[in-house]
Amino acid sequence: MELKLSVQPVRDADCDLMILPVRLADLKNESDRSAALIEADAMLDGALLAASQDENFGAKAESMLVLHTLGKMKAKRVMLLGAGSRSEDLRMACGKAVKAASKLGAKRLALAVPEFMLERQLRAAAEGALLGAYCFNDYRTGKAAEPRIPASLDLLLPAGTPDPSSREKIVSDAAALADAVNWARKLVDTPAADMTPTDLAEAAASMASENGLNAEILTEEDVRARGLNLDMFLAVARGSHEPLRLIHLSWTPEGDDAKKPPLALVGKAITFDAGGLSLKPSAGMLWMKTDMAGAAAVLGAMKAIARMKPPFPVHAWMGACENMPGGNAYRLGDVLRSHCGKTVEVHDTDAEGRLVLGDMLALASDAKPAAVIDLATLTGAVAVALGLYNTGLFASDDDLCRDLMDASERAGESFWRLPLDERLRPDLDSPVADMKNLGDRYGGSITAALFLREFVTPGIPWAHLDIAGTARSKTARGYLDVGASGAGVRTLVEYVRMLSDRHQTAGAS
Ligand code: BES
Ligand code: ZN
Ligand code: ZN
Repeated sequence: MELKLSVQPVRDADCDLMILPVRLADLKNESDRSAALIEADAMLDGALLAASQDENFGAKAESMLVLHTLGKMKAKRVMLLGAGSRSEDLRMACGKAVKAASKLGAKRLALAVPEFMLERQLRAAAEGALLGAYCFNDYRTGKAAEPRIPASLDLLLPAGTPDPSSREKIVSDAAALADAVNWARKLVDTPAADMTPTDLAEAAASMASENGLNAEILTEEDVRARGLNLDMFLAVARGSHEPLRLIHLSWTPEGDDAKKPPLALVGKAITFDAGGLSLKPSAGMLWMKTDMAGAAAVLGAMKAIARMKPPFPVHAWMGACENMPGGNAYRLGDVLRSHCGKTVEVHDTDAEGRLVLGDMLALASDAKPAAVIDLATLTGAVAVALGLYNTGLFASDDDLCRDLMDASERAGESFWRLPLDERLRPDLDSPVADMKNLGDRYGGSITAALFLREFVTPGIPWAHLDIAGTARSKTARGYLDVGASGAGVRTLVEYVRMLSDRHQTAGAS
């Protein structure tokens, strides 16, 4: 769906559907109404506001009321769209409106940007509309495979909008971000048979070369030949016939900025998690193609970051492999030596994510980063604790935690901080090795996070996002469809934007 921006009155817009975002106050008070709403209502002889009363349209967030204009406007139909109060409400509403437009078969859409929609809301509306246009039809056939999404969306700015060109940047940033999120969603939605470690590495490498990032893809032989000591990663990969890939992407700015300590990102990239010898039951295994959603989020973020060109390096590491119970699979009771030298006794081969991530975090630590952030569909326990709408955030550093909470708030993603409670650390003690990879039943996402912490060099600020509950949506709502949500991408990009601003201000003073 193509996004365009113009200063144009509602009466001139030739389209299949004109979307008019409204707030509750707009219906109640005439003085609050946007010029677009007043104009459309007048052209329809007052039918729009009358219908809103008759149909009990209360402008609740995401509510919709569609009227045919019967030739009274150039637009074929108009839609009143409940905008809600937070920008995330608007993002959801615009996504839902685009999906409804697809069902109506509307190809050319317009959205009359009301005066109340300032920069942040304009961005949210553009993002939401484009996220709502995502649909995963690659595996359907016949009519069902045909794209039904609208071809274009014209954002109509009200007359007198100051500095329309600054709005252009907002909309193009929003489009780049939505493109990155939708790309990440597609990587996750693709079945594991077609998104093997090799496929994921190829997708990462071609994205990198198209966007001016450096990509280094290592095979198992490369990992061994270089003496990287990633035995936890290699152990998890052993049970599958699919060869593993170590994916390392980086953005390096020009000049002295290249010498700054990098931001390090790590993503869980288990392209299929059968559980290994601690085999998952069938129902739990069905969605385990999603177990590379952390990597997909990191890759999506890198795609957007490449375009932002931040004034500091950004590195991303992902150990991509499957977790399968093949004849060469790693065993319970095996002791593995990690990249940083610590030893781990395997108590459950289904707790594989922390093993691979442990090695990746240690590898990332070698680069002496300013901060390291990992994203992982790590534990079912995080969904038990927080439900499916909040990502669990763990942080060793309060400043990094605050920045990520701020970024998530601005990006419209819900994060909730969980504690790295020292009292649970003894749960990871092993009778034979430095630790085991399994904690107690209670606080499962906390012990998983405490396990990861062991592999980050002390002193490096570290945050861990457990997206096991949020990476996939069980229902279609707002801009989401059943399937991958792209959780984490928007927050990471917003965080990099915040850091870039900070670097620029520091550089200027
Ligand atoms: N990939 C799973 C976590 C997961 C569960 C992601 C549900 C998405 C939805 C992870 O590797 C895993 O199997 N974790 C175990 C940990 C346990 C063995 C300590 C779990 O959550 O049951
Ligand atoms: Zn697992
Ligand atoms: Zn897993």
